[in-house]
Amino acid sequence: MLAELTLADAAEAGIRLARPEDDAAIHAVLVAGIFTLCRAAYGDAIVEAWAARRIPGLQDVIADGRFFVAETSGEVVAIGGWSPESPDLAWIRALFVAPPLAGHGLGPRILAEVERRAGGRGRTRFGARAGLNAVSFYARQGYREIERGPLELDTGLVMEHVLMWKGAR
Ligand SMILES: CC(C)(COP(=O)(O)OP(=O)(O)OC[C@H]1O[C@@H](n2cnc3c(N)ncnc32)[C@H](O)[C@@H]1OP(=O)(O)O)[C@@H](O)C(=O)NCCC(=O)NCCS
Repeated sequence: MLAELTLADAAEAGIRLARPEDDAAIHAVLVAGIFTLCRAAYGDAIVEAWAARRIPGLQDVIADGRFFVAETSGEVVAIGGWSPESPDLAWIRALFVAPPLAGHGLGPRILAEVERRAGGRGRTRFGARAGLNAVSFYARQGYREIERGPLELDTGLVMEHVLMWKGAR
């Protein structure tokens, strides 16, 4: 259970490639993260619409070896992946930490692994559409803010996000 995690679990978590059967656990971390870590920045209506979305094409991303999970005690506690935008550019996707373990370095670890694995497949530049709550996090990981813009959810609600960039533009 995500709710029963302790801080020792953050330190002990190992990062591995996601498997097809991780789908439910991945979405559980995503939904918990949206509701708990993003609500203050966006409010109830937006987090509810956001949490209702599945990660587009997740099974294909997993099959292509571009999605990772951090796991401890058999529990998925952080997630993240990348998409190939061009031969040298990767988009960071769905980077989330289980709320009980937020703020203890798992986000930087899984982001570093995503970048390392994308780097192994030729990517030297990284883009991220950061939620407002994640801008300072990405900035600490070497991303710079490019522009703020609207992102329309399926319900028609619009959430502001920030395009962040690492590497040559
Ligand atoms: C953004 C995120 C991936 C960072 O991962 P992390 O493991 O928490 O990263 P860090 O350990 O470096 O800590 C990040 C922040 O958590 C804060 N923090 C500390 N204790 C915390 C706690 N108990 N609960 C929540 N945040 C806490 C830190 O002060 C730091 O704040 P800042 O980035 O505003 O300066 C994670 O917080 C998360 O999943 N957020 C929700 C999803 C999200 O916004 N993803 C980004 C793509 S849009």
